[in-house]
Amino acid sequence: MERTLVLIKPDAMIKRLAGNIISDLSFLNLKMIGLKLVNVQRELAEQHYSEHRNKPFFEELIKHITGELHGNENVIAIVYEGENAISKIRNFIGKTNPDDCEPYHLRGKYGKIHTKTNCHETVVHASDTKKSAEKEISLWFEESELV
Ligand code: CDP
Ligand code: MG
Repeated sequence: MERTLVLIKPDAMIKRLAGNIISDLSFLNLKMIGLKLVNVQRELAEQHYSEHRNKPFFEELIKHITGELHGNENVIAIVYEGENAISKIRNFIGKTNPDDCEPYHLRGKYGKIHTKTNCHETVVHASDTKKSAEKEISLWFEESELV
């Protein structure tokens, strides 16, 4: 059994895609065990994306996840549990660059590269390893919020 964190990012929220994304994810047969709406503050954003601190796209990424680029939009944070939950969801969302995804990937279907900023509007975040899943779930959820 694995747990993984999914974030429906502000670019997806502003395009009213949250329902479609949750619906698409439901076909993976994982159990939703936590869900909340978060107005992401800079501190949480920087902790969540700490591995990218020195990347050229970091500042844009923080502005993206905090909603600054999308009318202060919120994020929906979800914890899914199930066998191979991490790889199941990663395989379903596709690659980081939406242009490299197939149409059946979440990012292929809904994502895009912002033409002006080059920001990868990837619509969702999903944990990529057990270690990052544990770190991210404890960052976004109290244990008592998981049902
Ligand atoms: O999200 P994923 O784990 O697939 O990719 P990442 O390499 O961990 O990057 C995190 C996020 O940074 C991506 O989802 C994009 O939103 C953003 N990014 C970007 O804007 N430009 C890049 N060249 C790479 C990533
Ligand atoms: Mg990543």
